[in-house]
Amino acid sequence: MRIRPTLEHDIQCLPEVERSAARAFADWPTLAWLAQAEVLGVDAHQAFVTAGTSWVAEDPQGRVLGFACARRERHALHLCEVSVRREAQGQGVGRALLRQVVDAARREGAHELTLTTFADVPWNAPFYARFGFERVDEERLDTRLRDILAVERAHGLVGRCAMRLALGH
Ligand SMILES: CC(C)(COP(=O)(O)OP(=O)(O)OC[C@H]1O[C@@H](n2cnc3c(N)ncnc32)[C@H](O)[C@@H]1OP(=O)(O)O)[C@@H](O)C(=O)NCCC(=O)NCCS
Repeated sequence: MRIRPTLEHDIQCLPEVERSAARAFADWPTLAWLAQAEVLGVDAHQAFVTAGTSWVAEDPQGRVLGFACARRERHALHLCEVSVRREAQGQGVGRALLRQVVDAARREGAHELTLTTFADVPWNAPFYARFGFERVDEERLDTRLRDILAVERAHGLVGRCAMRLALGH
């Protein structure tokens, strides 16, 4: 498996990768609906690729196993999505993608890497916490993260939290 920047020709398969990844939620009663939920479209992926903030993990046969995409904010890189095909989960692909995003954020001189995620889903907040991310308490949320959480709530995503990894710039 190797991690590389996402190329134009990868974009077409990314919605299917995200749909496959979301099957992880199928057995989680309150979030099972996410297994059928809307995923990022090709236009959104195109924007990440153009910005140079999208990466894929591919197997030795060149099959895309997962992707991570991020958005540049003022002093931060914000991780928008990381998804690994259901059958490839639990084998270190997500961790490798996350490491790539952290490296990119450091290289760009970002002060922090931020994200929002489910607080109580084992492969969400606890996974990021083991990686070194800290949960941002409600009262310490800046406007940007507060707004992201509000939009997510409006889309029915409850139990979400914001997390940050300080990068020491
Ligand atoms: C979250 C996700 C990207 C992680 O990718 P992955 O390749 O499965 O993760 P890894 O194999 O690198 O493992 C990362 C950690 O998550 C844990 N993990 C992965 N799947 C798990 C599961 N089903 N249950 C519990 N823990 C799990 C691993 O044990 C590992 O723990 P570690 O930190 O001690 O090493 C992947 O599970 C996924 O696509 N999930 C569905 C979409 C999603 O939730 N995206 C995140 C949005 S914020």
